[in-house]
Amino acid sequence: MGCSLGPAVRLEAVCDPVIPRLGEWLRLRPDTLSLAQGMVDWAPPEAVRRAVREALELPGVALDRYGGTWGDPELLEAVTRQLRDNDGVDLDGAQPLVTTGSNMAFAVLAQVICDPGSEVILPLPAYFNHVMAVRLAGGVPVGVEAGPVPDPEVLAAAITPRTRAIVTISPNNPSGVVIPEAVLRAINALCAARGLLHISDEAYGPFVHGRVPHFSPGRVSGASAHTATLHSLSKTYGLAGWRMGYAAVPVALRPALAKVLDTLQICPTAISQRAAVAALSTDPSWVRERVATLVPRRAQLLAAVEGWRQEGLPVRLWVEPDGAFYGLLVVDGLAAADGPTGTGQPFDSDGLMEALALREGVATVSGQAFGLAIPGAAVLRLSHGMLSGAPLVEALERLGSGLRRVCRG
Ligand SMILES: Cc1ncc(COP(=O)(O)O)c(C=O)c1O
Repeated sequence: MGCSLGPAVRLEAVCDPVIPRLGEWLRLRPDTLSLAQGMVDWAPPEAVRRAVREALELPGVALDRYGGTWGDPELLEAVTRQLRDNDGVDLDGAQPLVTTGSNMAFAVLAQVICDPGSEVILPLPAYFNHVMAVRLAGGVPVGVEAGPVPDPEVLAAAITPRTRAIVTISPNNPSGVVIPEAVLRAINALCAARGLLHISDEAYGPFVHGRVPHFSPGRVSGASAHTATLHSLSKTYGLAGWRMGYAAVPVALRPALAKVLDTLQICPTAISQRAAVAALSTDPSWVRERVATLVPRRAQLLAAVEGWRQEGLPVRLWVEPDGAFYGLLVVDGLAAADGPTGTGQPFDSDGLMEALALREGVATVSGQAFGLAIPGAAVLRLSHGMLSGAPLVEALERLGSGLRRVCRG
């Protein structure tokens, strides 16, 4: 009898992760410059390494045993202070918690709110791991084209009896849009009125470069009953590998969350929590100084796109980015003659991403990974989080050459 071992059918609807695919190409072309990964190039605060060294030297077993479901008391205190005092989040009726990265908080919430067929509204472009988490939970991610700043009325029109939540990401991955306060308030009020959870992903909260300030919808009075506020230490403190995030969620979800958290993580990693306490105790100027280093890189990116446009390449930014460290590049009017050799098809976003990585040695992320499909155009997410100065110049030059090649033949 043949072996019938295989994954659940449910997994067929979960897309393949895009970043590991890029990793494969990087192995084939080790000189590749990355405008792809959503990471920053700064090291964590020195206090983090000190705190970790000290924790390792301490006698006792605190680091070696399981900790509390919601996080260690010292970190929970720091997280509560951060949410309440820095972000003004209404914690009355909210449960703060620490998670193994912000993605874990989202995945756990998806498990908590989704029955088979439950819908979660994700304004497009959507963050691929959100889409994957909803699918893994048996839910249906409903991508809604609601504009670069999501129009609350368009989102409202997408609500059905199966809808459980609306997700916003501000500042946005992948567009770099910072959603204005009035819009976030309207979406939050919509969730309150329709009995939905507003999941506010604020992984890029401090990454604001324009005039629109970051606003946390958890600030709205009474919002704690229907708002989940998600934060990450990956970007802000350069701690991506330490897997630390924190959140505030409605207390009504606490019993269900306890079940899922106990199943999936038991407790957040002890040593990483020591690192997180030290990071959150860092003077806010530490973060501000580092975020400021992204401003000239953003300008370099915008100047490059403008330069290509002026030389006649059919490129544009989907929207001018004001936050995070991303920009969405749209390449219009790609003809079949431009496409991957021998296919007779025009490049789509995935094909263009692959050609740029393998032929030009510059990594980007296809807009398809974010559910963005513009007829007759390819879309690429460009990140300037990992490159600056001469390497960023070189990466943009390689991208320009690649674009010239596919647009002009
Ligand atoms: C919008 C958004 N949320 C969450 C994450 C992941 O955060 P973490 O590393 O804390 O899981 C990312 C990473 O790229 C992101 O872009």
